[in-house]
Amino acid sequence: MSAQRQELVRRLAAPDITARKGQAPVVCLTAYTAPMAELLDEACDLLLVGDSVGMVVHGLPNTVGVTLEMMILHGQAVMRGSKRAMVVVDLPFGSYEGSPEMAYANAARVMKETGCQAVKVEAGPTVTANIDYLVKRGIPVMGHVGLRPQSVMVDGGFKAKGRTEEERARILDEARATAAAGAFAVVVEGVAEGLARQITETIEVPTIGIGASAGCDGQILVTDDMLGLFDWTPKFVRRYADLRGEIARAVASYADDVRNRRFPGPAEIYFAKTA
Ligand code: KIV
Repeated sequence: MSAQRQELVRRLAAPDITARKGQAPVVCLTAYTAPMAELLDEACDLLLVGDSVGMVVHGLPNTVGVTLEMMILHGQAVMRGSKRAMVVVDLPFGSYEGSPEMAYANAARVMKETGCQAVKVEAGPTVTANIDYLVKRGIPVMGHVGLRPQSVMVDGGFKAKGRTEEERARILDEARATAAAGAFAVVVEGVAEGLARQITETIEVPTIGIGASAGCDGQILVTDDMLGLFDWTPKFVRRYADLRGEIARAVASYADDVRNRRFPGPAEIYFAKTA
């Protein structure tokens, strides 16, 4: 692609993703760094700078310790690395639930400092009004229902949701309310196929599934999971590569070369200029 043509490439935005409903599946992955964003950009419609960055990159036990500053730094990196995909940045735990004004101040800061196209929030009855407030003030919002990782302390772990009739009704209501408040798409995480299909048929914006069956309008996975960077992945992840094995092989080979003085070789060293 020529430099001139590259300048003309327009990023996908919230209305483009919403317009996919009933037309074509939305392809999404998480991204946290510039080089990975560059690799994912062409194949993906949407890159999510998820607060899963806390667990995947920073070794935290869950997403509760993730800060706004961490999300901004990773959001800036992903924006630098990508050109075409829509970039959505997660608002972390404690940055949007308190009040509409608090949600607006933090979401506006994320948008200004990263240049991303939208923010994502974990939905619920106390958050619906905040979503409405953001959207009415020009901030596109993606919702997130079902298994909500930021509620891990209340739930006592990462557990699939919608196991009882009451819980299914509550999640369906939350998805409906989130879409009615103006969300341009809704992530549906960790629910059985029947509920995922019901939500998808009920709301007018795309559902993006993770552990929620093919009954959703699009799919998202944590990139490091699908590339096989961890020794364990949840049941719903398909591993498209074994980067963990590949990295272990490469590092063992490097260590062996260094120990046996095979690296660096003549092609990998500088020579002084001869006069
Ligand atoms: O933080 C994240 O990566 C997410 C996705 C798993 C949807 O919220």
